[in-house]
Amino acid sequence: MLPPLLLLLLLLLQLPHSWSSPPFQTSQDFTRCLFSQNSTVATHTNLIYTPASPKYSLLLQSTIRDARFNTTLAPKPSVIVTPTSLSQIQASVHCSREHGLQLRVRSGGHDYEGLSYTSPYPNYPFVVLDLVNFRNISVDVPEKTAWVQSGAILGELYHRIGEASPNLAFPAGSCHTVGVGGHFSGGGFGFLMRKFGLAADNVLDAVLIDSKGSVLDRASMGEDMFWAIRGGGGNSFGIVLAWKVRLVSVPSPVTVFRVIRTLEQNALEIVHRWQSVASKLPKELMIELAVTTTNSSTTTTTIRATFNALFQGRSNSLVSLMQSRFPDLGLRKGDCQEMSWLEAMVFHAGFPSNSSVDVLLDRTISPLVGSFKYKSKSDYVQDAVPKAALLKIWGKLFETDVGGGIILMALTR
Ligand SMILES: Cc1cc2nc3c(=O)[nH]c(=O)nc-3n(C[C@H](O)[C@H](O)[C@H](O)COP(=O)(O)OP(=O)(O)OC[C@H]3O[C@@H](n4cnc5c(N)ncnc54)[C@H](O)[C@@H]3O)c2cc1C
Ligand SMILES: *[C@@H]1O[C@H](CO)[C@@H](O)[C@H](O)[C@H]1NC(C)=O
Ligand SMILES: *[C@@H]1O[C@H](CO)[C@@H](O)[C@H](O)[C@H]1NC(C)=O
Ligand SMILES: *[C@@H]1O[C@H](CO)[C@@H](O)[C@H](O)[C@H]1NC(C)=O
Ligand SMILES: *[C@@H]1O[C@H](CO)[C@@H](O)[C@H](O)[C@H]1NC(C)=O
Ligand SMILES: *[C@@H]1O[C@H](CO)[C@@H](O)[C@H](O)[C@H]1NC(C)=O
Repeated sequence: MLPPLLLLLLLLLQLPHSWSSPPFQTSQDFTRCLFSQNSTVATHTNLIYTPASPKYSLLLQSTIRDARFNTTLAPKPSVIVTPTSLSQIQASVHCSREHGLQLRVRSGGHDYEGLSYTSPYPNYPFVVLDLVNFRNISVDVPEKTAWVQSGAILGELYHRIGEASPNLAFPAGSCHTVGVGGHFSGGGFGFLMRKFGLAADNVLDAVLIDSKGSVLDRASMGEDMFWAIRGGGGNSFGIVLAWKVRLVSVPSPVTVFRVIRTLEQNALEIVHRWQSVASKLPKELMIELAVTTTNSSTTTTTIRATFNALFQGRSNSLVSLMQSRFPDLGLRKGDCQEMSWLEAMVFHAGFPSNSSVDVLLDRTISPLVGSFKYKSKSDYVQDAVPKAALLKIWGKLFETDVGGGIILMALTR
């Protein structure tokens, strides 16, 4: 049985680092090997990028989502490969083994430690296999399934599903620029999780390339491997190229709200109460919360708790449900907005609620990703955190060497 709370602590830090640049001599050997593997590789111009390539830096930075790893000192790949075919990936696997290069796969680049495009080990040459060209999605409405390639972002997947049917959805995260490859590999929680589980719980099949370059599906990889790639963490078991997922049924419209309470507005009481109430509410309702520091009207810094919710139902029933089960929050009808599930994904990605759903296709702009340095940690909490402990944790957000921070709390069931 899963514990009820997931606590994610995001601290904005100005961390020092002492990394040095890796040697690049291996990039030529790797490139030559790749060419010798398949002559079609040689004629493909937008495939291989070495530090000498004019577009290398732009490509490398394209999905760096944490400024901590966006420095000249951070270890850089000897080569970035952007394959468009299976055989190019197989050739990359073969050549990185042959030349002792580590192979790092990048889908959306949202790794909290930058592990898809940098290395914690200085002087350890590595290749980045960037799956930016593997982002095909096909939705089968009658079968309620979809195939999605790993390089697609969550926003693209949501858009394609929402376009196909207003009553189909997929349970995964809120940040629309997160990549399918890393997200499904590690779990993937979001606003449908209480009812339908994690993204990984809804994977039915996958295409995996192993360390020998063999292409495997669920049947040929076996159930143990299939279990491991759904939550065991990215870059651990092979390269997952594509996933077959089960789509879930949602009503249209659904209802969302975002309600903010400061310490002066009783945030401590409400957050404490949320811990015991929220997991007993119907599974159709997910209320997440984010605690940050803010300046109140009196200009003293205070704590601000933001309650974000998605309800698979209409606003009238949500308001009466909240009035009887969680009156402490003081939810009013005017706080609620009815919209399609797809529009709710736009709302929870942080865009203004009148934005076009097409913003979900934009890989460059995310309201949830800044260009700051940060460090994230997450943990499972079995019991409700007492008020005194909440205050102590929140106090950390004010410490000057931290700079600022966010504490996200979600429910696993
Ligand atoms: C702003 C932000 C918001 C987030 N919001 C949520 C959220 O709402 N819910 C949630 O559950 N998580 C969330 N996350 C965490 C996110 O799901 C993970 O960081 C996830 O691993 C990112 O996947 P990616 O493909 O974007 O990252 P990448 O950096 O590309 O990959 C992450 C890891 O997986 C490996 N990998 C990538 N692609 C593949 C592949 N095809 N095959 C094998 N290994 C691969 C990489 O090598 C790396 O080790 C968020 C992260 C950020 C930065
Ligand atoms: C070379 O690559 C092309 C396309 O990338 C593929 O169709 C072909 O089968 C490959 N040939 C070999 C020998 O791997
Ligand atoms: C990384 O650096 C480049 C160039 O300095 C900049 O354009 C980009 O916004 C930075 N990205 C992040 C996430 O810091
Ligand atoms: C994506 O789909 C198109 C159209 O079917 C196909 O031509 C292309 O090769 C596919 N791309 C990949 C990377 O699978
Ligand atoms: C809060 O207010 C103080 C004083 O007015 C100001 O210096 C500080 O930048 C403000 N912080 C934020 C996050 O707005
Ligand atoms: C959304 O509303 C804001 C404020 O009313 C407005 O400035 C913006 O142009 C609107 N955006 C769209 C896409 O309609």
